[in-house]
Amino acid sequence: MQTYRIAAIPADGIGPEVIDAGLQVLDALSARDGGFALDVKQYDWGSDHFRRHGVMMPEDGLAQLTTQDAIFFGAVGAPDVPDHVTLWGLRLPICQGFDQYANVRPTRILPGIAAPLKGVGPGDLDWVIVRENSEGEYAGHGGRAHRGHSGEVATEVAIFTRAGVTRIMRYAFALAQARPRKLLTVVTKSNAQRFGMVMWDEIAAEVATGFPDVTWDRMLVDAMTVRMVRAPQSLDTIVATNLQADILSDLAGALAGSLGVAPTANIDPERRFPSMFEPIHGSAFDIAGQGIANPVATFWTACQMLEHLGQSAAAARLMRAVEAVCAAGISTPDVGGRASTQEVTDAVIEALRGDNR
Ligand code: IPM
Ligand code: MG
Repeated sequence: MQTYRIAAIPADGIGPEVIDAGLQVLDALSARDGGFALDVKQYDWGSDHFRRHGVMMPEDGLAQLTTQDAIFFGAVGAPDVPDHVTLWGLRLPICQGFDQYANVRPTRILPGIAAPLKGVGPGDLDWVIVRENSEGEYAGHGGRAHRGHSGEVATEVAIFTRAGVTRIMRYAFALAQARPRKLLTVVTKSNAQRFGMVMWDEIAAEVATGFPDVTWDRMLVDAMTVRMVRAPQSLDTIVATNLQADILSDLAGALAGSLGVAPTANIDPERRFPSMFEPIHGSAFDIAGQGIANPVATFWTACQMLEHLGQSAAAARLMRAVEAVCAAGISTPDVGGRASTQEVTDAVIEALRGDNR
């Protein structure tokens, strides 16, 4: 039997509630499946750690994680610590330090979840957004001069490298190729941004020659928002820069009914380092501690984690259970239900036990 070492970093807000739910479900799944076990190690990093020690994680944090097979991450963000401090203190150092350059965000309308577009239900919206996760607008390159003076200057430089764009493009084409429709949309803003974005377009065309069976097209990011709303069926796999895909994935989550169900994987495709799996929704302090956080995004990202670890059958089993529970209307208030986090979790565990496939 295979045992995987999992680093759990629940961190802030509703992070601990959803990670706890996710670990319960994974436990039940490994007991049901019998083919794998998880050796979970908890890390108490995050905003509390920051209040106590002045840093979000210890200096040797990354070194502590390198021996793990995957990272199961809750959320960062606290009302009393600036967002750029929490983000650059924990999540981004892990993504960038472990070169998790492919951020993968599947979106589907799950059964039982009301989506806002008229006439668009499950089956009409089935996308995977691939977000470049190591450079672009999140490269952290820039600075401020003459602080506080009227002549103050700030720069925030987006960095695009041929190596960085080529590897994310290859990842996106390969992912599109592995999906039934073999359809990829490459998003840029190459009409207004004539250097980095024009290079994206050129590299997309180069990489495309290696994937002759993938149908691909290009969209400008502004027009892409319209297409996502007007013709969701026309899209399948999508690749975009760090910031553009950040924005598009929020829109995607909303169009699928709720950010509460949207998962994400920060992947090092070369497997030199552990990859990190997290719900997109963030720390949601307004509902923290009430036991009503939606655990579905965390369950879904647990499926992504299992797939990455090579446990596809278990991943599929978990996703079936989650969909059955959603279809039965057992859901948290953010998607119109009345169930608590624990009730949804129990229902998924029950569905897993009853799944005989
Ligand atoms: C996301 C989030 C983060 C991001 C925030 C918390 C900085 O919005 O995962 O999409 O922009 O990367
Ligand atoms: Mg975002």
